[in-house]
Amino acid sequence: MRPIKTAVFPVAGLGTRFLPATKAMPKEMLTVVDKPLIQMVVEEAKEAGVEHFVFVTGRNKSVIEDHFDKQYELESTLRRRGKSKQLDKLEEDLPGAGQTSFTRQQEPLGLGHAIWCARHLVGQEPFAVLLPDMIIEANPGCLAQMVEVYRQRGGGNVIAVEEVPMEHVHRYGVVGAKDWQDNHFSIDAMVEKPKREHAPSNLIISGRYILQPEIFKEIENVQPGIGGEIQITDAMIALSANQNFHGLRFSGKTYDCGDKVGFLSANVAFALDREDLNAEVRAALQAIISARGGTLTWN
Ligand code: G1P
Repeated sequence: MRPIKTAVFPVAGLGTRFLPATKAMPKEMLTVVDKPLIQMVVEEAKEAGVEHFVFVTGRNKSVIEDHFDKQYELESTLRRRGKSKQLDKLEEDLPGAGQTSFTRQQEPLGLGHAIWCARHLVGQEPFAVLLPDMIIEANPGCLAQMVEVYRQRGGGNVIAVEEVPMEHVHRYGVVGAKDWQDNHFSIDAMVEKPKREHAPSNLIISGRYILQPEIFKEIENVQPGIGGEIQITDAMIALSANQNFHGLRFSGKTYDCGDKVGFLSANVAFALDREDLNAEVRAALQAIISARGGTLTWN
């Protein structure tokens, strides 16, 4: 069983739901408190043992490449001002030399196509995919939990899932589950954005995948699916004829940061979970609510 050393981050999307914020800035650079979404998922991958970070970008995304590079001017200013803590943090967050790769998806042909654009950078190894829209608060991180299941179940493909109310399944990829063992199971059905009555369950695909390299051949062969796009879910359905797909109902909480309320919720939740901010954020939230005639109480 080969270890997961490479992760692919599809970051070519336009982010129209966040206009005007995303007019000139990639949506993946939106921040939860003080950290860009893309950095949060890179950290999740690093924690899971990933050593090669592959970004599938598009036009207007070059700031992502800059973000994962050294910023000499900034560093020398921080040094001059004696801000050694901030300097150390920047250094610690930086992927090592040669650990990042960037390629472009030239046209918005779908998530499956975006992943396929990384095929030469990934090569013949199993790899992870992390969608930066989905921010998962979990300890250990979601991908680390998946790597553990990958190991326990002897390889194959692993998809992180979570339960949502049935009325939300049409927004996501949905899987069917059999042979549960603790919190993991065999996937016996997958469908992308089904109508509620066609969904095999309420277990949705949460934007984290461990895939075998044979997926690339399947992506080449699938026809455009829902939305006229090349869907990764359709390629996974094809691959599942020959390979095992395992599901993991991970422990943690997802914030769908492709959605305004999800993004704002992530900001509130992560701020409240920060020791240095908790007290002030609580007070600020209370003041905001009471200025609008409500009350917010804490136990
Ligand atoms: C993609 C996947 C879908 C998954 C979702 C998670 O959809 O195709 O299966 O549930 O991400 O965010 P998208 O959000 O790109 O429409």
